[in-house]
This record gives sequence, structure tokens and C-alpha cells, in this order.
Amino acid sequence: MKTRITELFGIQHPIIQGGMHFVGYAELAAAVSNAGGLGIITGLTQGTPEKIANEIQRCKSMTDKPFGVNMTFLPTLTPPDYPAMFHAIIDGGVKIVETAGNNPQQWLPMLKEANVKVIHKCTAVRHALKAQKIGCDAVSVDGFECGGHPGEDDIPNFILLPRAADELTIPFVASGGMADARSLVAALALGAEGINMGTRFIATQEAPVHEKVKQAIIAANELDTRLIMRPLRNTERVLNNVAVSRLLEKEKALGDALEFKDIIDEVAGVYPKIMLDGDMDAGAWSCGMVAGLIDDAPSVKVLIDRIMTDADALIAERLSGLANG
Ligand SMILES: Cc1cc2nc3c(=O)[nH]c(=O)nc-3n(C[C@H](O)[C@H](O)[C@H](O)COP(=O)(O)O)c2cc1C
Repeated sequence: MKTRITELFGIQHPIIQGGMHFVGYAELAAAVSNAGGLGIITGLTQGTPEKIANEIQRCKSMTDKPFGVNMTFLPTLTPPDYPAMFHAIIDGGVKIVETAGNNPQQWLPMLKEANVKVIHKCTAVRHALKAQKIGCDAVSVDGFECGGHPGEDDIPNFILLPRAADELTIPFVASGGMADARSLVAALALGAEGINMGTRFIATQEAPVHEKVKQAIIAANELDTRLIMRPLRNTERVLNNVAVSRLLEKEKALGDALEFKDIIDEVAGVYPKIMLDGDMDAGAWSCGMVAGLIDDAPSVKVLIDRIMTDADALIAERLSGLANG
């Protein structure tokens, strides 16, 4: 399938694996790229420019296809060394960067200079328009359904995507709630040029996370996620567990007086314990409502091939049948 996104990134299928903390390692990124999608390494999980450089080299040893690096800008007291990290990405020869969390404007000149394509992930049409204005090549439009940070507007993709299509001239992919061929075909119908998936890619053979994480996603249904940190205007959609229940109790008890320090035990430094050790109640971890559509952990290639084959059939049989009926 050819779309403006496959053309922009030089990939076979319009399917992107979004950056994911302690999930988006070289193994997963390479598997997605080898299967014809766009795999993305998560920069902040590596933490230092040296480790990013090393992860890029590892990924290159596993694939000769294009892949990207995610750079997430988080509200933090001690920011990581972003300039050196961007230099590591450019020096590593990576030609695609996914930015998220905040306006990437200050990094665009150096990325453009190095011929790097930038896809910015955002949750609002106004932010997508801003990304377009400052020179991003594409955007990932993240609806309210998404795992991770859906923003504070709560606009689901059935509204957000056509709104984006009405306003944007640069290509965009649909992100949040995407799982299968139905998601892809619907996203294309709503004006997107492809899909970005997070949660779905965790439940795959190649995702280098603990087996219990994959099983938790398979066991979960669409009612099992919760929104946390809303009072801090840093909303995150996570899978419900003991730690999340405790955190939500604190939010309820403290109301507007809630501060980050009150919930630090449930959110800070918990990812390695969950993703690597499989300690499933160690804290809050991002997960999309789409868990309700996930009931297996195939290889990435089987997943992507299945999406593309089913999408072709959906378009050629069901949709064209309706059109001619
Ligand atoms: C476990 C997990 C960790 C994530 N970490 C990041 C991250 O570090 N940076 C980022 O930009 N997005 C992150 N995301 C968001 C994904 O890249 C993607 O936008 C989102 O998962 C899409 O929604 P879906 O889960 O419904 O597919 C994360 C998502 C998950 C599920």
C-alpha cells in the first residue's frame, strides 16, 4: 500500500511503532522495520548519548531498513542532555525522528540540516498545525483512546482525525486505539495516511519485555485502563492495578492539593521493574483502551502481514461491495 507516509519514510506499509519507554529497544524497532513498517527506538530509555549511539548501532546490525528514534520532552527538573542526544542520532545516520511531549521547534534546524525527517506526535489539532507551521514533515495524531499521554482535551479519534484532515496539509497517521486492519482502513477513511501503534506492538514475540506484560495486555479488556495525574494536568492512560488504585485514592483524597511528590512511589522509576522484571504491581504503566482488541502475541511480521492482507480484503470486498450495492 502506497500513501504519503510510506513515500515520506521509504517504507512498505503505512504502520509505525511509536516510541515506548522500556519497550522501544532495537529488537522491536528492527522487527517492525524488517516487516515493512517503521520501527522506533525510544531515546530517553537509553538515557545518555553514548547509549543512544550504541542502540542505533545495534538496530543497524539487525535491519538495513529505515528506522527512527523517539525523543520525548517531559516536564522534569533535571532535563537529560538533549543536544548531545540529537547529535548522537544524527551522527548515527538515523534519518527519522519522532518527537513528543512538547514543541520540537528548537531542534528542527539541526535535524533539517542533517536531512532528518521529523514526525511530531500530538493530541490536538492546534498542536498539529503548530508542528506543520514550524516545519515538521508529518504528525502522529494521538486520540483520547491512546496509551500514554492523551493530553487534556479528551477528543477521541473519530472526531480528532477528520478535524486534522480538514486542517493539515502535511501527512498524518492515526494514533491511539489502532490494532488491526479495521483500524487501518477506518483511519485511511478518516483522512490519515497510516497508523501508529503502541500497545498492540507490546504484545508481540519480539517486544523485549517480560512475558507477564504481554499476558496482562491480552487479559485486559477495554474497561481496564485508568487516567492518572489528571489533577496535575499530566494525564496518562495506564492499565489498572494495585498501584494505580492506590494512586487514584490519593488523588481523590487530596483533590486540588495533590502534588507530584504525593504519587512519586507509584510513577517514578517503575518502568524497569514492570517491563523487565515483570513486577506487575510495581507502579503505573501506559496502556491503551485497545487492549480490549488484543488477544494474542504474534511475531511482528505475522501481525503486520495480517493487518495488510485483511485491509486489502476489507477494501476490495466489504467496502467496494457496499459501494456497488
Ligand atoms: C508502555 C508505553 C510506553 C510509552 N512510552 C512513550 C514514550 O516514552 N514516548 C512517547 O512519545 N510515547 C510513548 N507512548 C505512546 C506510544 O508511542 C503511542 O503513541 C501510543 O501507545 C498509541 O496508543 P495505543 O497504545 O492505543 O496504540 C507509550 C505507550 C505505551 C503503551
